[in-house]
This record gives sequence, structure tokens and C-alpha cells, in this order.
Amino acid sequence: MKPMTLNVEAFDDWLRTRFVELNNELEHLYWLQTDKANVTGVGDDLKAQLETEGRKHICALLDEGNTDEGFDAAFDLLGNVGLYMAACRRHEITEPTRETQSPLVEASALAMHIGASIGVTPRFATAHLTTHNLARDGKYKRFTDLPDERLFVDYNTKGILAYKRAADALLKILPLGVSHPITADLLKVARQALQDVMDSNTTLFNELDTDRFFYCVRPYYKPYRVGSQVYRGANAGDFAGINVIDLLLGLCYANEPSYSQMLVDKFLYMMPEDQAILRDCMRRSSLMEHFLAATGAKEQSWYQDNLSLFLEVCELHGQTAIQHHDQLVHKYIAEPSVNMQQQHMSKVTASGPPLHVLIGALEKLRDRRAAAKRSDIRTAWQDVARLKATLL
Ligand code: HEM
Repeated sequence: MKPMTLNVEAFDDWLRTRFVELNNELEHLYWLQTDKANVTGVGDDLKAQLETEGRKHICALLDEGNTDEGFDAAFDLLGNVGLYMAACRRHEITEPTRETQSPLVEASALAMHIGASIGVTPRFATAHLTTHNLARDGKYKRFTDLPDERLFVDYNTKGILAYKRAADALLKILPLGVSHPITADLLKVARQALQDVMDSNTTLFNELDTDRFFYCVRPYYKPYRVGSQVYRGANAGDFAGINVIDLLLGLCYANEPSYSQMLVDKFLYMMPEDQAILRDCMRRSSLMEHFLAATGAKEQSWYQDNLSLFLEVCELHGQTAIQHHDQLVHKYIAEPSVNMQQQHMSKVTASGPPLHVLIGALEKLRDRRAAAKRSDIRTAWQDVARLKATLL
């Protein structure tokens, strides 16, 4: 990475120190209340300091203009502006339903300039906090020092990297074909990587505190306005790997409207390299189709070996989706929402739609990945059953 300009460095230092302290103090004050979701009229002096100090740094950067430090530096700076804007949203210094334009005029201008110039959405994305978050002295950028925030980000990063390992292995099968002897090795790598996703999700599920997550971590992931437009919140799914696995296994279909709608919506939330991988993948045929076309070879050992591994990988991918939905989403979003006071309910999800709509969409994804038998949506259950029937 190229060296930072002095203004970029000063803003980065502020974000790693003072910004975190101010958020810590505000979280502490909110947490003391009976209604922990309320932020109105609490810590107004701290909120003003956060907004003013951040704005000073951002004005200097906006004046400096595009210093062409390369993609990495631009992406990193966009993330820093985004963390500031997301914190302002969390503390309701800005509130997208209250405004038609973001009051953070300079931050919006800087974010839009950078986002448009590097081909990503002008807000902070998951990659900024997880896979592209440079640690200094063992500490990477976060909103607060709360142990639950760290746990959540650590395990999001682990999960994303493990899904990426599985996706990379599956992509390498394409030029080899399903009958290649080394395809078995790659399927074993994918199997292990998906097992790693399961293990890391299990730890997260066992260790993350529900209230801390719901009241003090999740609110930083809400939608916010940049300029005139509201951008949905970041979520751990904003990377190509998960969809590469869906498509290459043949569990989801790029030509199915609700699935392709999700892909279209998430493209700009991904790193440009991920966008390219996913685009390429959307043009490929799946391993499921290749196995279905090869059932005539069922007596051969390569078919039996590779197909049984392939079906294990499909099964595990379904298991990770069931775990995400039935454990993580249920425990940390759906259940606490039931107890939340009605006036805060519209603000629960990161993507914006009402909770029942979001849950319904995630349920469909779970069932596609698990190849569950459903009559209302297309799933791969019949394909999987046909292939299973050819195992000797
Ligand atoms: C999306 C909840 C952890 C992978 C979502 C969404 C919710 C959610 C509610 C829908 C997006 C939205 O809110 O607008 C949670 C909770 C977690 C958690 C409560 C833990 C406390 C993880 C982890 C991974 C992950 C560790 C692994 C990488 C995904 C993916 C999506 C997603 C891939 C996009 C939708 C999909 O393709 O399934 N998550 N999540 N999540 N999350 Fe998580």
C-alpha cells in the first residue's frame, strides 16, 4: 500500500482513538437506560463532539481532492468516512427518514467522489471492517471497544474467509471437470472450509451476548443517507464467495428473479475483484448440471468418489445456511425484536425492509441452499435426489 497523506493519516488516527472513545461513552449512557434502544436526548455534547471533530478532518480531505494514492488507499479512506457516517446514523445525528439529504454534506461529497471513482457503493461495506481492515499493534478498526463488537467482527471475518476458501476450491474445479481425479482434492478443501464456517458460527452463537449485540453493535449497521440516497446497511454476505458456492453447486439459479435481484442489489457492496468473480460465475454451468449429465458413468469409481464428495459439500452448505437462519438470525434479530418497543421496530434490520419480509427472504435462501422440498420456489431437491439415487 502507498503511504497515506498527512490528512488521511490524521483522520485514520482519530478514528482509531477518539472516535472509539466517544462511541464507548455514548454506548455506556444508552445501556444505563430502561429503554436501551433510545438515543434521543442522551449524550448530546458527546454527539456534537463526534460530528464536529469528524467534519474537521473530512473538510481537510475534501479540500485536498483526489490525490490518487491507488485503489487500496481510496477504498480504505471510503471506509473511514463510512464508519464516521454510520456512527452519526447510529447516534441519530442523522436519520434517513427525517431528512431528504444527508446533513453530512462534506462527508457525502467525499464518499460519493471516492465510491464512484473506484466502482463501489459510497458507504462503508463489510469488507472495510472484516477482510480489508488493517490492524495496528494487533488492533483493527472498530466502532467501540466492546468485547461483543470485537467477537462479532472476528467471527464475521472468519466466516467470510472460510466461505471464500470453499468458493476458490470450487472455482478451480471448472477447468478440470467433475471426472478429474484432483477434483476430489478440491471438493475435500471445500468440505473442510464449510466445516470451518460451521465451527466458527457455533462459537459466535455460544459466546455473543444477545442484548449487547442487538443494542450496541447492530445499530452501527443501519442504512444511512449519502447525499440524497439511502444505502442499505452492511451485512456479512457482501462478498462474492457465498453466491459462487450457491451457483457452482447448482443450489441457486442466476436466472431466478428473486435470487438474481439479490445479486444485482449487492454488486456495488462488494470489492471490484469480487464483482468480477461473481459476474463470471453467473455465466457458468453448475457442477450439479455436470454430474447430472454424467449419470451414465455411475459404475465408474471417479463418479462414485467425486459425486459422494460433491453431495457432502452440498449438504454442508445447506447446514451453514440453516445455522445462520435458525440460530444466528433467530437468536440475535428475530427474538430480541419481539421485546423491542414498537417505536423502534422500523429500525431493526440492516437492509431496511420490515422484519417479516427480511426473514421470509432469508428463509427462502436457507431452503434453496438446503435443497429443501418446497412447492412455491425452485429448489434443487429433485436434482439432489436423482444424484443420490445413483450412489452405489
Ligand atoms: C445476511 C444476521 C453473522 C453471512 C444477514 C441478514 C441478517 C443477518 C439479518 C440479512 C441482511 C440484513 O439485515 O439486512 C446475522 C446475525 C449474525 C450474522 C444476527 C451474527 C450474530 C453472519 C456470519 C456470516 C453471515 C458470521 C458468515 C459469513 C451472511 C450472508 C448474508 C447475511 C451470506 C447475505 C444473505 C445470504 O446470502 O444469506 N445476516 N448474520 N452472517 N449474513 Fe448474516
